[in-house]
Parts: sequence; structure tokens; C-alpha cells
Amino acid sequence: MMKITEVAKKLGTTQRTIRFYEEKGLIAPKKASNGYRIYTEEEVGDLRTILALREVGLSTKEIKKALDHNDDFTNYLHNQRSWLYEEMLQIRDTVATVERMIEVSRREEEEESMMDMARELKALKEKRTNWRDRWNFDEQAEDYDDNIKTTGYRFNVHEHYNEALSKAHAWVEASAEERGVDIGAGTGNLTGLFLQQGIPMVAVDQSKEMLKVCAEKHPQTDTRLGHFLSLPLNDKEADFIVSSYALHHLTDEDKELALAEMDRTLGDNGRVVIADLMFRDDSHRKSVLESYQESGNEEAVEAIEDEYYADRSRLIRWWEEHGYKVEAHPFNSILHLLYAEKVERRIPNE
Ligand SMILES: C[S@@+](CC[C@H](N)C(=O)[O-])C[C@H]1O[C@@H](n2cnc3c(N)ncnc32)[C@H](O)[C@@H]1O
Repeated sequence: MMKITEVAKKLGTTQRTIRFYEEKGLIAPKKASNGYRIYTEEEVGDLRTILALREVGLSTKEIKKALDHNDDFTNYLHNQRSWLYEEMLQIRDTVATVERMIEVSRREEEEESMMDMARELKALKEKRTNWRDRWNFDEQAEDYDDNIKTTGYRFNVHEHYNEALSKAHAWVEASAEERGVDIGAGTGNLTGLFLQQGIPMVAVDQSKEMLKVCAEKHPQTDTRLGHFLSLPLNDKEADFIVSSYALHHLTDEDKELALAEMDRTLGDNGRVVIADLMFRDDSHRKSVLESYQESGNEEAVEAIEDEYYADRSRLIRWWEEHGYKVEAHPFNSILHLLYAEKVERRIPNE
């Protein structure tokens, strides 16, 4: 049992801070007969946790919720990491805009272009934060692996699923000392192919439930809650990035921001392999849709229109403009594999 002065000293904090947490209901020490608060070892332990979590930005409300429900703090830390990466990118975007503003402020036509830059920045911030899961992947997580086996629909988006994942895995040609990232990893089917090879993998997904299933199947995975438009990864952290059946949940515009995010997090010589639903280009999309319409396959038309199958030519153009070598392989009219490797920046001054 300890008094408040001793606890404050032991934890390197102030009595005022401890009282504040008491007022917020995070701890409830008993009072001795002389009126002094008495802290048990357990309460000192809780205070230590509270101080550490406050330091990394968790609110007293969240901490109280976790303590009240005896929750695992890891989940709260995962949320916090995801949010911090989002914040970090927003600060970077803002700094870059300020730099550009300083640059143009030296010139005559400054006001107009500063306004344009501010608008661009606002649009970018919105893009990074506005993506919403309207398919409710959390609810799909438990049955996902069974559902992809389903055949017999008039339109089966999972036709060639296993072939696509195997080829994506093979095309990466990962070596033992590399570290990979799977974005939109879901239940970790593609991640698993690399893990079998002994390659450490980070699985990023915006769905907690998908990541839960992934971690149950592959406990060695480094699961990270986060999304395509602000990846919970440091610059150049990945040797390779893979993604299967996920990018088509982003609009074509957002896909380009997602490619830029992959580029940020990919090391020199890095490669990206994407297996996803897409069309070769816009006229291919129209002709495929027309043929489904003509054959009365409404299931196919609705499925395609509910998502954002990529325009493959647009993805390839983005990569080529950013110094990547690209290769493509179609499995069927809507499922393609894309391989992109950073080559022009491979060896500086090559
Ligand atoms: C159809 S599942 C594919 C899962 C797995 N990659 C596979 O091939 O089986 C799509 C996954 O992408 C994730 N996803 C969709 N949009 C995302 C986004 N913007 N950021 C991160 N994950 C996303 C979903 O949560 C879901 O787990």
C-alpha cells in the first residue's frame, strides 16, 4: 500500500495528475481512516499503464473504457497507430504545401496559386480520410474463406482465385531476407503463401475482423489496421508489396493515391504485385458490360457496377510515369495480374 506522494515519486508524475485520473474515474483508490488515499500494487500498475497510454495520445475516455471492460490494450494501440499514420501524412502534405507556397510567394501571381494549393491540400486531406467501407468487411470475415470457394453463380468473381494468388506469389520472387506487405490482406490467403516460405509479412487491412481471422490462421503475421490511402508503414519499409482482390474498392482517382502510398513505403528496387478485378481500359469495360447485358446476366452487371474495377491502362500509365517497369497477365476478362518494379531509380546515376 502506498500514499499518493510515494506513488507520484515512484512513477515520476505529480499528485495533481493522479488526482485528475481519479476525477475521470480511471482509478478509485480507497481512503484510509485518516482520510489519505491508499494505493494498492494493482492501482499503481494501472496508473503506470494509464501514464504510458496517455503519452502516446490515447484519450482518458478510451483508457477508461478499456479498464472498465478489462479489454486488451493492443486493440486500442492498433487504432492509435493507424490514426497517427494518418495524422503524420496530413502533416507531411501540409508541410509540402507550405514549402510550395513559400516558393511562389516570391513571385507576382502568388494569391491565385496559393489558393489553388490550399484547395488541392484540402482535397488531398479529404481523400485520405473519407474512404468508407460500404461493403461491411467486418461482417464478411468469418465466412470469407468459405464464400470464395462457392461456384455455380452466373458470375463468379473468384474464378481463378487460387491461380491468381499463386502467380502473384511466384512473380514476386521473394528471397529469405526480404520483408513483404499485403494490403487489403483480408483473411491472409496471399500472406500465407509467403509465410510458408519463411518470409516475414505485414498484413494491412481496414477491417479488424478480417485481421483477427488472419492472425488466427497465421499467428506470425504482423497485422496492422490501416488503409490504402494512408498506410501504417514507414517510408521504404517494404521490399515488396502484394495485394489481391482489394484495390477495386477504391475509385480510379483514389487508386492513384494508393499507388503513391505504395511508392512511399516501398524500398529501392521494390516491386508491387496486384491481382485484382479490372478491365484493360474503358472501351474493354464497356464491351464486357454490354456482353453481360445482352446475355441478360444482371448479376454480373450489378456486381461490376457496385465496385470500381480498375482501368488497367491507367494503373500502368501511373507506374510508367513514376519510373516503374510493368508487366501484365490476364486470367480471364476481368481478373488480371500486374507486376511493377522500381527500375529507373534502381541505381542512382545508372
Ligand atoms: C475481397 S477481400 C480480399 C482479401 C484477400 N486479399 C484475398 O485475396 O482473399 C478485400 C479486402 O480488402 C480490404 N479493403 C478494402 N478496401 C480497403 C482499403 N481502402 N484499405 C485497406 N483495406 C481495404 C477489405 O477490408 C477486405 O479485407
